[in-house]
Amino acid sequence: MKARYKRVLLKLSGEALMGEKQYGIDPVRIAQYASDIKEARDMGVEIAIVIGGGNIYRGLQAKDTGIDRVQGDYMGMLATVINGMALQDVLENHGMITRLMSAIEMKQICEPYIRRKAIRHLEKDRIVIFAAGTGNPYFTTDTAATLRAIEVEAEVILKGTRVDGIYSADPELYSNAVRYESLSFEEVYSKDLHVMDMTAVTLCRENNLPIIVFDMNKPGNLLKILKGETIGTLVENNV
Ligand code: GTP
Repeated sequence: MKARYKRVLLKLSGEALMGEKQYGIDPVRIAQYASDIKEARDMGVEIAIVIGGGNIYRGLQAKDTGIDRVQGDYMGMLATVINGMALQDVLENHGMITRLMSAIEMKQICEPYIRRKAIRHLEKDRIVIFAAGTGNPYFTTDTAATLRAIEVEAEVILKGTRVDGIYSADPELYSNAVRYESLSFEEVYSKDLHVMDMTAVTLCRENNLPIIVFDMNKPGNLLKILKGETIGTLVENNV
């Protein structure tokens, strides 16, 4: 079966990696992600991944601990490198070929991010993990995911979260919250929906890059999307 997309950027949240734990990486969760990614890879899809770092450190925590915001953001970027290294190892244990590229140079542990090299890796069916965000403070990993998706010409951002899409209100707080099947970027602004931060949403809109928000913690969901099933919420221009 032909996949719906040829090249995707998968955004994984750092917090989701914690699974049932309070901190760090849950081996069961990361193994589930690896099997799902393997299924996607086996369909012939080229996969780039951006992973967050919130399970280890969040830049925004910094101000509560008296650490400078910019310093905290860099600490958060390093957390994404740790997650990227973990994911690389687990993906390789599941039989995939990977390359880890960092926006901040750390030659001993990963390649520096070079756009043309990243594209070459994807063309050679390697899974490319982009670490260290954009390499700049004040940008989230969602923005990094968007930027890298545009740079490597991915057709879509698949934002794997713990919820099964975008709701009219927080479904954990409001039982009458409804899930949207699809939305335009305009609606994301007008309804003040928190899909990704506004920098990321605007980059997607201006570059005509659709986003699918879906529950990555449910095994098989990634494959369902690639098979063309409508799960999660699709955000795109001109719905
Ligand atoms: P091709 O040139 O397309 O064959 O790509 P390649 O990635 O196989 O070639 P390369 O010789 O660049 O890389 C071989 C291995 O070294 C891969 O596992 C890379 O991830 C790794 N590697 C390449 N450059 C760096 C680097 O700057 N730092 C680190 N730590 N590893 C690197």
